[in-house]
Amino acid sequence: MTSVLITGASSGIGEAFARQYASRGADLVLAARSQEKLDALSRELSRTHAISVTVLKQDLSHPDSAEKLVSSCQSQCIEIDVLVNNAGFWMVGPFSNEPLDELERMVVLHNLSLVKLTSLLLPGMKKRKRGGILNVSSITAFQGVPFNAVYAATKAFILSFSEALREELRGSGVNVCAVCPGLTRTKIFDTTGVNPDKILLPVGLPEPVVKKAITGLEQNRAFVVPGLYNKILIHGGRVLPRSVMVRLGVLLARNETTEKQRYRACCSAGETNSKDKQ
Ligand SMILES: NC(=O)c1ccc[n+]([C@@H]2O[C@H](COP(=O)([O-])OP(=O)(O)OC[C@H]3O[C@@H](n4cnc5c(N)ncnc54)[C@H](OP(=O)(O)O)[C@@H]3O)[C@@H](O)[C@H]2O)c1
Repeated sequence: MTSVLITGASSGIGEAFARQYASRGADLVLAARSQEKLDALSRELSRTHAISVTVLKQDLSHPDSAEKLVSSCQSQCIEIDVLVNNAGFWMVGPFSNEPLDELERMVVLHNLSLVKLTSLLLPGMKKRKRGGILNVSSITAFQGVPFNAVYAATKAFILSFSEALREELRGSGVNVCAVCPGLTRTKIFDTTGVNPDKILLPVGLPEPVVKKAITGLEQNRAFVVPGLYNKILIHGGRVLPRSVMVRLGVLLARNETTEKQRYRACCSAGETNSKDKQ
């Protein structure tokens, strides 16, 4: 029986990973901060698929959280065969306006915890001569993205790390793959204030992203880019000079930030209205 640890399993792409691996009969370890959501998903999946599901509540934006997560698995004698490093959040806006503590949380969550979980779980996989590491990157990994500067840089780190590790592990029985989704309809938009219905780029669904990612890992592809439109964007980056792609990124991000500002303006107008009524 394969055992899969999924970080950020409480919603969106992570939840879709949980559902697809459950339907393949894998035992699951679900990690995120939202205990109630994880418990509800665990109850549903263990009942419908007759699998074992373990819930581990963990905020992975703290530097020592990966060690805590792995030690919780070890104390319950759970060996992880597949690690899905998925937990993440998005920030859109000028770098100079982003609070330092949020930037730190992002770098720790997207990069430090991902590296630590990989480092801690890899020895077991290598010893058993089988395993998989699936890292959720983004199409923003392929170039600098203005107004997404740190987000895109953390995703570039994930892609670079995955490509290198996959090559190091060739012949070991452990596959490594990075999945690079484009815009995908999940709760990630809630925290940014960007309305997915108002932006210029097409927005896909989590399920095809996850299907492509799992196949990519099984085939030991270095990375996969789900969706034709996203592939065209990536290939554009290979044909056009990098500087042109970064400039084009400004146009798209300007649309995102305008939508964010409109959304914030609506929210604060709503707040003012409700205060007026009091
Ligand atoms: N949606 C897109 O357009 C898109 C595109 C490219 C890449 N991605 C990547 O896909 C991944 C999943 O995002 P999503 O779109 O599915 O967003 P989502 O629906 O907001 O899910 C994010 C998941 O990450 C978890 N998470 C966030 N902060 C965490 C923390 N500090 N510690 C532990 N878990 C944390 C959340 O759970 P809790 O809140 O319960 O902790 C949630 O389960 C992210 O890495 C994101 O960068 C998304």
